[in-house]
This record gives sequence, C-alpha cells and structure tokens, in this order.
Amino acid sequence: VTALADAVDLRHHGDAELAPGLLDAAVNVRLPGPPRWLRAELVASLDSLGSYPDPEPARAAVAARHGRDPAEVLLTAGAAEAFVLLARALRPRLAACVHPSFTEPEAALRAAGHPVARVVLPEPFRLDPTAVPTDADLVVLGNPTNPTSVLHPAATLTALARPGRVLVVDEAFADCVPGEPESLAGRGDVPGLVVVRSLTKTWGLAGLRIGYLLAARALVDRLAEAQPRWSVSTPALVAACACSRPAAVAEASAAAVQLAGCRDHLSTRLAGLPGLRVVADPAASFLLVHVPDGPGLRAELRARGIAVRRGDTFPGLGPSWLRVSVRDRPTNDRVVAAFRAALTRPLDRRIRA
Ligand SMILES: Cc1ncc(COP(=O)(O)O)c(C=O)c1O
Repeated sequence: VTALADAVDLRHHGDAELAPGLLDAAVNVRLPGPPRWLRAELVASLDSLGSYPDPEPARAAVAARHGRDPAEVLLTAGAAEAFVLLARALRPRLAACVHPSFTEPEAALRAAGHPVARVVLPEPFRLDPTAVPTDADLVVLGNPTNPTSVLHPAATLTALARPGRVLVVDEAFADCVPGEPESLAGRGDVPGLVVVRSLTKTWGLAGLRIGYLLAARALVDRLAEAQPRWSVSTPALVAACACSRPAAVAEASAAAVQLAGCRDHLSTRLAGLPGLRVVADPAASFLLVHVPDGPGLRAELRARGIAVRRGDTFPGLGPSWLRVSVRDRPTNDRVVAAFRAALTRPLDRRIRA
C-alpha cells in the first residue's frame, strides 16, 4: 500500500494513442458507433431537444434491468461522472484504490483533496481482500478490471463490504461476461455498495456520455445533490432506456459470447509469440500482455500501423506491459501479424517515436 501519488499520468487514456491511419487496438470501446436500431432511437430523440431532460423513464428502465428500485439508480454522464460525484459528495478519511485499474477514480478523489492509498495487486492481479487497509472507508476497484481483464469472484468483493465503508465496484466492462455471474448490480443487500456501469463501451457511445450507478437510496440522494442539474442529456437518457430492454441485454450477452471466442483466439496467438506473456483468464474486451521491451515494441507496432495502449501509466505496471483490444478475427489477425513482425523483424530504430 502506498499513500503517495507516484509519477504516473493518471489522466492518460487509450484515446491518446490514436492517430489518423492507425488501426485502433488501444481504446476499449467495442463498436465504431451504435448499432442501427439504437442510432434510429437517438436520431428520433433530437425532436425533443427543446425540452429539459427527464431522467425518470431511464431510471425506471435501468432499475427494471437490474431488479432494483428506481430510487437506487442515478443516471450519469458516463461512468466517469459517477467517480467525480463520489469524490465530491463523500468525505472519506482514507480512500483505497485497488490497482492496476482504471485511473479516473483515483484522479477524481485526489482532485477533491481526499487522501488515497494505493493497493497494488501483484501479478496475476487477483484480489486479496486482506491487502485493503482496514481503516479505508472508501474502497474502489473494477470488475472485470481494466487493464488486467481479471474478473474477481462476487464473494471476494462482498468480503470487502462493511458498515461505515463505501465499496465502489466499477462494472464498466461487466457486460463483456456472458450472464454477468460476478456482477453485484442486483445486490441491494450489501452495505455501502455502489456499482458503477457504463453504456459507452458495448454500444459504441463513448461520445454520448451515458452510464449510471446503483446504490442504496440515501447514498443515491447524496450523490444526486452533487450532480449538476440536467447533467445527462435527452439522447443519453434514451440510450439508457433502449439498452436496458431485454432484447438489448440479450444482444449484449450474445456479443459477449462472440467476444470470448475472438479473445481466446487472440490470446492463444499472442501467447505463442516469442517473449510474450498474456495475463491468464481474461474476461473483458482487452488483454494485458507482458513484453520484453514495451516502448520499443509499441513504437514498432505504430510504425506498422497498429496502436496499442501503453501499460506504464497504470499504477503497479511498468513499461513492459501493453494492453491490446480484442477486435473481430480479421483485425485480431492483423494485430498478431504486426506483433510477430515487430518482434522478429524490427525496423530501423531511428524511425521510432
Ligand atoms: C474501467 C473503466 N471504467 C469507466 C470508464 C469510463 O467509462 P465512461 O465512458 O462511461 O465514462 C472506463 C473508460 O475507459 C473504464 O475503462
């Protein structure tokens, strides 16, 4: 556990790796844009832009999707806004962020002036509840976790809950897991639990900004007090309704099954390359890969038209780690071919960025 912000850039994200012409194996959004049926609903929603947004239908839809009460739902401008609301509304004596993980929660807590302890899990990045300081009254972690792709068992997560502690589980990638067996989204019985969800990854909506959190009613009310009025736009609320319908949930689940096949294929092929190690049992839409020379390999891949996500801006990882998005099979094959070429036939080092 470290209480210091060491020198990593918590605000670096995969989109910074992109440039025109590069194949994107860096960003975790799974579609280039929303599916046609969803796009049609978004377009239709533009007719009501003259009115202020009403979140209640979306609240009811999200509540029904997770078997919760609408009062236990707060719609947010992406999962990212949920982390800012938590940082604004709560006054933790000690927040603990479990790493390596998505860095916005820690960035938001630090920006609000809260003390943050880092709990750094060693490889293979499985959660050890005893590593979390007992006096942490706010604990944040992801499931499945970005960037490790590790899925923690629900029981290991709930072991962290206790009276007087807020336990935030970032489930931005939960719908990558068919049937979502380890999700806590439906659990109204766990004290202090806040589940944060995103609709931007699976549905290709990163530019729309839509997510939500699920928590006990009193906590939802407190977080809502910290939220700017009308923070979530009408099209974003329409997306939340649409993506909560049983047919959409079934579509996401089918996509998760397909993802698993593509991920196994990519993982096996990358693991077969010289010097590469893929973190075991990935559950999300990306793989974490250990390589002999991260900066060199990343530059070689860029020179071959492929952007991957550097690992060294995640606390607990170093320059030897890269995160690779799982795409469709032909795209994954291109990525593997570029890795193979970069590892076996390096280009002139002078072209490296
Ligand atoms: C683990 C995790 N949580 C949350 C987010 C933010 O999602 P949103 O686009 O809904 O703000 C991301 C985005 O990369 C993420 O990786």
